[in-house]
Amino acid sequence: VLLGFSVLIRRSSRRAPAPPAPAVLHKISDPAVAHRVLVDNADAFSNRPVLPFFVELAKRRGGQRNENISTVPHGPHWRALRCNITAETLHPSRLGLGHLAPLQREAIQDLVAALQSTGAGAGLRDHLRAAVFRVIARLCFGDGVHECHVRAVCSQVHGLQVAIGEVNPFSGPSLLAKLAVWRYQRHLLAFHARITDLCLPLIAARRRGPHDDDLCRPYVDTLVQLRVPDDKHGGRRALSDDEIVDLVLEFLGAGSGSLVVCLEWTLAHLVVQPEVQKKLRREVDGEAADRSHLIRGMPYLHAVILESLRMHPPAPVALRHVQAAEAARTLVGGGTTSDVTVLFLLGDMGRDRKAWKDPDEFRPERFLAGGDAEGVGPLPGRKQTRMMPFGAGHRFCPGVGLAMATMKCFLAALVVEFEWAPPTNAAVDLTELDGFLKTMKKPLSA
Ligand code: HEM
Repeated sequence: VLLGFSVLIRRSSRRAPAPPAPAVLHKISDPAVAHRVLVDNADAFSNRPVLPFFVELAKRRGGQRNENISTVPHGPHWRALRCNITAETLHPSRLGLGHLAPLQREAIQDLVAALQSTGAGAGLRDHLRAAVFRVIARLCFGDGVHECHVRAVCSQVHGLQVAIGEVNPFSGPSLLAKLAVWRYQRHLLAFHARITDLCLPLIAARRRGPHDDDLCRPYVDTLVQLRVPDDKHGGRRALSDDEIVDLVLEFLGAGSGSLVVCLEWTLAHLVVQPEVQKKLRREVDGEAADRSHLIRGMPYLHAVILESLRMHPPAPVALRHVQAAEAARTLVGGGTTSDVTVLFLLGDMGRDRKAWKDPDEFRPERFLAGGDAEGVGPLPGRKQTRMMPFGAGHRFCPGVGLAMATMKCFLAALVVEFEWAPPTNAAVDLTELDGFLKTMKKPLSA
């Protein structure tokens, strides 16, 4: 989750001691080039740059650097973590209707009740966040986790995400700039410390054994039982509490923030284009009353979400650290002797004029049968990439299935339960915040 801003922090920070910053920054916004490097040369493009925030965190822990799935270099440790989350928590068989559907149903019921009593208004984003976080927190900690704990963790994780997005206005070698970076890092570390304090008792509770209410095995249980390669002593070892906290924080942050961003953008477009809203409502109304079956067989719902992700991918960049030799071999205009940090500009790819007709128009029909983007999905195809809101190559987002299923469920319920219209005398402002997550600059009020 911390990927996007690492580059900004790196540029402004002179304090991060190691490792040496790559000398060259390379931006890619052409989906065809992204496909060539990320899909066709996946091995060479399978690492991310080291983030200064984690270097700072490591200094605090006496040099012990913990890895989460996003930060760990491509190799056996990454494979152990990635296989665990994919097979044990995010695999479709684990997310089957028996497990995910009741969590979603409860969260949606509460969301609908909250919106009915208070109205969507300016608090819509907060209501969405609380509902989505509830689903993700239960997948993480189990069904027994107390509601007040969920709310407390949600508020700190959200606070951390906002703090990361606060771009440091000073940069350079001046004392003022150094002070600003120091304060910024301290601010992030304080959030991290509070989240650790909240999560440790929840992890300890899971270590004591399963809970009676559990419908399935939560993510924390899989982490407690996981054994990863032991680099120091050989063989395999268990994860420490600190390592589990960082993995949990990644799960909660990555799992909730982007979903809320995407839902808000999608609703905003439905407010602006009532004809799309009506068409979507007709499709959802036509389905069985039990909407948990909607994950399959709702092409327009699928298309609306894809169109939203195309125009507003919540994570604006995907990053890679590429070794000099590989960069020289694969990147256009290579010839470099330094390692390269590559920024894939996901938002630009979805609006690339060579790949998309009328890219600035919200037109879900393009993804339907006969449309010019028929067959395009949330992940790149084997032969072609036209958009990549969930990344590509070895490090693509493992949460794509959960994300798509949850967004569909929430959106379907929201268009059936409510008619969405702009507030009187106010237009919806579709300006993007240029930050860590591409949220709406002005929260949707509807
Ligand atoms: C709309 C929702 C989401 C979006 C748009 C999104 C987007 C992304 C993107 C762009 C990346 C980087 C991919 C790359 O570098 O190629 C990523 C990585 C990741 N995402 Fe997501 N994500 C979403 C939801 C989730 C969910 C629900 C989870 C888990 C609960 C999750 C967990 C992760 C993890 C662990 C990684 C790192 C993967 C690795 O390095 O192997 N994401 N996501």
